[in-house]
Amino acid sequence: MEQADLIWHNGELVAWEDAKVHVLTHGLHYGTGVFEGIRAYDTAQGPGIFRHHDHLDRLYKSAELYYMPIPYTLDELRSATHELIAANELRECYIRPIVFRGYGQMGLFPLDAPVEVSIAVWPWGAYLGEEGKLHGVRAKVSSWRRISSDSLIPHAKASGQYLNSVLAKIESHKAGYEEAILLDAHGFVCEGSGENIYAVRDGRIITPPQTAGILDGINRKSLLRIAHDLGYEVIERDLARAELYLADEVFLSGTAAELVPVREIDDHQIGTGRPGPITQALQAVFDDALHGRDERYLDWLDVVKVPSKAT
Ligand SMILES: Cc1ncc(COP(=O)(O)O)c(C=O)c1O
Repeated sequence: MEQADLIWHNGELVAWEDAKVHVLTHGLHYGTGVFEGIRAYDTAQGPGIFRHHDHLDRLYKSAELYYMPIPYTLDELRSATHELIAANELRECYIRPIVFRGYGQMGLFPLDAPVEVSIAVWPWGAYLGEEGKLHGVRAKVSSWRRISSDSLIPHAKASGQYLNSVLAKIESHKAGYEEAILLDAHGFVCEGSGENIYAVRDGRIITPPQTAGILDGINRKSLLRIAHDLGYEVIERDLARAELYLADEVFLSGTAAELVPVREIDDHQIGTGRPGPITQALQAVFDDALHGRDERYLDWLDVVKVPSKAT
């Protein structure tokens, strides 16, 4: 992976290689951490952090769901992220804040372990590849079901929960596919290993509802708004597996992957096998929104003030 110079760790900027934890860190053993994946884009105004407040808000909600009080205010973490991007002199980056139970207490009762916070930023290209964004990816429906709300908290972005995505990702990779699609506990379509999913049928966009065990994606919210602004009908409802195969278009959305068309699922070609017109229309407006080129969505960007360099 690409590196940056500095990481924000418990209130201090430290060198990338010095951002270390003890091997008995609680979160390392029991997965007691919550995190976010955020991106900043190069815009004419400076690095623009996409829906920064919404991501931080989800971080605080994930932490609360796991009884983890964050020892900083949301504004403090927002300012820390701005400071970090400026100090690393990045115009565009991925941002990974993580809140986790630290060193000091072992055993499953976590409430006496300290809560630590780190923020890392680094340059990270398209997660499923530029090629995938342009031409679509091949996906496989996983034999692993998405975690359900009767055993974990799909709405929380919690570290331990990602073992579910990791198993699905490995399975799809070993089978020669670029992404995994997980079904929910009832056998309906849920989401990708790190992305929400959408099917286009008869000109309408269908996406699984909150009750399907999805992570309530920030990009999902954004795409539903853009789809509405472009005049498309969006339906949130359970989606049968075969509806994916029968769809005219399928696409995924997530911070790491962005908007990615799916051209094949379980060796069934989707539509023409190329990104469809609705996917492409959404992709174009979404890309403009991310880069601050569409007036309608400028308030989604939290612009970092970068001090001008002395010449
Ligand atoms: C499991 C899962 N679902 C969906 C998403 C999409 O969420 P977002 O659009 O907020 O990045 C992600 C990525 O964070 C994810 O990890």
